Amino acid sequence: MTATEIRQAFLDFFVSKGHTIVPSAPIVIKNDPTLMFTNAGMNQFKDIFLGEAAPKASRVADTQRCLRVSGKHNDLEEVGIDTYHHTMFEMLGNWSFGDYFKKEAIAWSWELLTEVYKLPKDRLYVTYFEGDEKEGLEADTETYELWKQYVAEDHILRGNKKDNFWEMGETGPCGPCSEIHFDSRPDNERAEVNGATLVNADHDQVIEIWNDVFMQFNRLKGGVLQPLPNKHVDTGMGFERLVRVLQGKTSNYDTDVFQPMIQFIADKSGKKYNSAAKPGDADWNDAVAMRVLADHIRAISFAIADGQLPASNKAGYVIRRILRRAVRYSYQTLGFKEPFFNQLVPLLAEQFKGVFNNLFEQKDFVQKVILEEELSFLRTLEKGLRRFDDLQEEIITNSLEKFPSTPKTFSSTEEVMKAIQDTANAAANSQIVVPGNLAFELLDTYGFPIDLTELISREKGWIIDMEGFNLALQQQKERSRAATAIDTGDWIVLKDDESVEFTGYDETETIAHIVKYRKVTAKGKEQYQLVLDKTPFYAESGGQVGDKGELVFPDGEIIQVTDTKKENGLIVHFTDKLPQDIDDALTAIVDPALRSQTNSNHSATHLLHAAMKQVLGSHVNQKGSLVNADYLRFDFSHFAKVTDEELAQIEAIVNQKVRENIPLKEERSVLYAEAITSGVTALFGEKYGEYVRVITFDDNFSKELCGGTHVKATGQIGFFKIIAESAVAAGVRRIEAITGVAAEKYIVTQNALVNQLKELLKNPKDLSKSIEGLLDENAKLKKEIEKSILEKSSGLKTELAQKAEAIGDINFIAQKVALPNADAVKNLAYQLKDIVSNLFLVLVADFDGKPGITVMIAENLVKEKGLHAGNIVKELAKEVKGGGGGQPFFATAGGNDISGLDNVLVKARSFVG
Ligand code: ALA
Repeated sequence: MTATEIRQAFLDFFVSKGHTIVPSAPIVIKNDPTLMFTNAGMNQFKDIFLGEAAPKASRVADTQRCLRVSGKHNDLEEVGIDTYHHTMFEMLGNWSFGDYFKKEAIAWSWELLTEVYKLPKDRLYVTYFEGDEKEGLEADTETYELWKQYVAEDHILRGNKKDNFWEMGETGPCGPCSEIHFDSRPDNERAEVNGATLVNADHDQVIEIWNDVFMQFNRLKGGVLQPLPNKHVDTGMGFERLVRVLQGKTSNYDTDVFQPMIQFIADKSGKKYNSAAKPGDADWNDAVAMRVLADHIRAISFAIADGQLPASNKAGYVIRRILRRAVRYSYQTLGFKEPFFNQLVPLLAEQFKGVFNNLFEQKDFVQKVILEEELSFLRTLEKGLRRFDDLQEEIITNSLEKFPSTPKTFSSTEEVMKAIQDTANAAANSQIVVPGNLAFELLDTYGFPIDLTELISREKGWIIDMEGFNLALQQQKERSRAATAIDTGDWIVLKDDESVEFTGYDETETIAHIVKYRKVTAKGKEQYQLVLDKTPFYAESGGQVGDKGELVFPDGEIIQVTDTKKENGLIVHFTDKLPQDIDDALTAIVDPALRSQTNSNHSATHLLHAAMKQVLGSHVNQKGSLVNADYLRFDFSHFAKVTDEELAQIEAIVNQKVRENIPLKEERSVLYAEAITSGVTALFGEKYGEYVRVITFDDNFSKELCGGTHVKATGQIGFFKIIAESAVAAGVRRIEAITGVAAEKYIVTQNALVNQLKELLKNPKDLSKSIEGLLDENAKLKKEIEKSILEKSSGLKTELAQKAEAIGDINFIAQKVALPNADAVKNLAYQLKDIVSNLFLVLVADFDGKPGITVMIAENLVKEKGLHAGNIVKELAKEVKGGGGGQPFFATAGGNDISGLDNVLVKARSFVG
């Protein structure tokens, strides 16, 4: 079976068992503070498990793109070195939300593996949870009994909490699990060593392929396990591993999931891929590098396609780190001196067409972003690698000194060779420790993420002084930020209410109750987060900021809501204090003025997006957006600067649509599939449910999937004005714009400015012509002044030459000159040097109230008498309370006391007397 057929067979099987197939969620997570990237198929259902959202169907299945590169589940270090861990992988999964449980999950796992995929039963091992006293958890004997129906007892193994109790992260849904492992060793090896002893023992031919989790708890902060309202099934099968097992390979990279990519890399690098290479073999490094590239391109491309650009912090930094790891392998191991990594994108996009189309649809953009990152990292990579070489040299020199037995004089070539060899061996044998501050310098100056430095060090057999590194990093962090630690308490539940209703599309005032709250301490300040059973407050999402407003209580108490954010399925209101009477009904009131301006900016963003597609082309896709009461910011994919003409065209279209006063068409519950067929604009990296909300302004103009709030008709926007266009990242540009009153104010201010200018210029007929005239005139005058200064200094030259006084064999001139700047004096000094021999010249001048001193000494005097203009000018400058310096034959100084200039001239004489 091909990989495509294997994936399809999984989905078909679960459809036959009553499951609905759902799309993969984006790989980048937006509304969960505990997680940056999707690390398991169940992430998108977290709020269903926690009872914070109702499931759309009780049985679903999918293939989910996952990333395990940070947090609790992190496989990055293994990738490329072994043959079965990946940064990005597909997780095939089936779920029951309070529907079937262990019996069916186990039966179907077995049926699919042994009857559909026809895996040999004697090569499969299953595990169950042995219980944990400390957690107060009993052994999962139910699972053991269920497996006994299908599996020989010596293939059913007990497992501890580490392997058989699955948790999403530090907190969140969890439960006992049952894993299925496959033993792909040849029969002779199997006869010698019992496969059961190799399960969960890091053997590369006895690997886990599927995990059935029986979700029953929520791990709270502080560690307490809280039972979930319902029991669920969450399974995950590693697609790349399944394909390998079914295709009878010993490495994931030997399957048709990776081979085309590996072959492409091998061809372009002119090297062969040897899947069987072992550490220490000549082609081992190449094999690792090819696997790393073939793997990492997937993580990076899908992250970018789902909206996470490489950046210098948080999720963006994780992506940048992986990218740099790949580029280092491409440059150093595979020998690509020019950007190569980005060239893998088209092949990958083609491979995932029909599975995850988001990459194919944005492949040019993704490739461009990677290219730019590669270029910028390649610029410093070489320098950073050179630092490693310097270090190596230092270490060898040091060890030379450490081995005094090395003869200082050699009597034969053999002796020399032996000495060199001894030294090299000694250096190789001593454990080299990379100083922590060097590792930090590599990060800070060359952009080497610490895991990259570790990797290069490991290849050389060195270790890093991590303590020193962490100290340096800590110090920098402390320097650059005040304590930003956020301490979030557990929810205190007042009312067990599953559904939280958002009323804000229809009203801005709602009567409600607090259902739960918690205390949060950030930057030493206490805040509270409140969840209501109903709320008109819009929680920040889709670029639109959260609402602000008030909670009004019957006893007259008013609590300000400073922000509203989403957390999984919850709408969380931020306040500075708790109300006296927390159980009372309250009136939640959104600040109407802020909301109304925000509506205008949000609707204007839709019009802008549509207008841009018309003017710039259909490749324009939203890459980020901010909508608040003051303005709107829209980031989009486009490769060139948007010209002034294009901006004017875009603005004109939007304002035309504003004047048409198009009524809002809001459809709250459209089938996603139907919406897409009708041509709505959907955003990459957004997680859409089965039903979506469609916002339309004119069926033929703007139709977007959107959860935000909008004007009732476009006329409310009043007026739209773009105020800035700029670049934000490779292939991403930004437009900032304002609407309504803000736009009107902007025009009024601009107009006032023009009027002011006109007045200053005495109301010319044509303002720009008149300014151009002034600029021309100014340039002409400047030239004339320069010319007249030159003439003046030429006149001075003859006058001063005549004043030269012979003191011994020196021609001494010390004079005050009326020249306007240091350049003019310098010019004069050089001219004098040409016509007066043996010159010792001191010129002082008054530059607009500031004293200036210039000393020039003929070069023969410098040589013969050891005179030094730089030292002399320093001495002279003391008279004007200043300082200066320069070369032996020419130096200048400035100062603060103009009254000392005469003394300078007197003092000058003392140097030749
Ligand atoms: N959520 C489970 C896992 O990721 C299935 O292994």
